[in-house]
Amino acid sequence: MFEEAQYFAPVATRDDGTVEVELAAGHPGFADPVYRARRNAIAALALGYVPGTPIPTAEYTDQEHEVWRIVSRELAIKHRKYATAEYLEATERLGLPGERIPQLQEVGDLLEPLTGFRYLPAAGLVPLRDFYGVLADGFFHSTQYIRHHSTPLYTPEPDVIHEVIGHANALASDRYARLYRLAGNAARRVESEQALEFISKVFWFTLEFGVMSDQGELRAYGAGILSSYGEIEEFRGMDIRPLDLVAMGTTEYDITKYQDVLFRADSLEHLEDVVGGFWAECDDETVSRLTAQAR
Ligand SMILES: [Fe+2]
Repeated sequence: MFEEAQYFAPVATRDDGTVEVELAAGHPGFADPVYRARRNAIAALALGYVPGTPIPTAEYTDQEHEVWRIVSRELAIKHRKYATAEYLEATERLGLPGERIPQLQEVGDLLEPLTGFRYLPAAGLVPLRDFYGVLADGFFHSTQYIRHHSTPLYTPEPDVIHEVIGHANALASDRYARLYRLAGNAARRVESEQALEFISKVFWFTLEFGVMSDQGELRAYGAGILSSYGEIEEFRGMDIRPLDLVAMGTTEYDITKYQDVLFRADSLEHLEDVVGGFWAECDDETVSRLTAQAR
């Protein structure tokens, strides 16, 4: 079963119009009323977003900027050791601020001249068909909140650090951005939920958690690894398997812990050939055929 829904805290709009983010009891910010109020306010901003207008500004507190500063600095050190050359070059190209959380509007303003991508605000989980579909048009849905300050190096859910440091840096690469668009085109092309799920799993094991041979060693290009202070130190010790569409599209994964099965591309060309080639051409029929091979 595909369980991405549990990855994001549910967002509810009450009868009186107030917005409430339902954090799980184990969430680092669960018992902090100030953080809970921040989360509700930031979710309300995204829900109030009107497409075609500037993205509402989230007025971050000094404490929130401090979390970004700490994590940005620590991840930049690790990226030099663990990220692919393509990702590192794209990071240079994008030039995200390290001292403060950039607004999503600003992230789009930096990205658009490079690869045409812009950001869209999301309060929480975006339905798969929308999330992937708009990639085809160069839009990336992103949460705006930041993790709780008590655990700057850990988050149980994707926050603005994951969305921007993980994804926007990758989206600043022409070659990775092309793969995101191809995933979007594939999601638009298929009709069945099974095919959509297969495509999203291939995305999960590549653009979220992909690794490849690069500069003579195993390096990461997936946003989930590159935005995780803990996971980035662990991926080389995981169960590393060769890039395989059938396996990626049908392997179950648990989003609540480190990914213990990862798929390695031999090179960026290899990733583009196998995964880009699949997304460029696949339809419901292709996916049924591949799924049957897994049985
Ligand atoms: Fe992600």
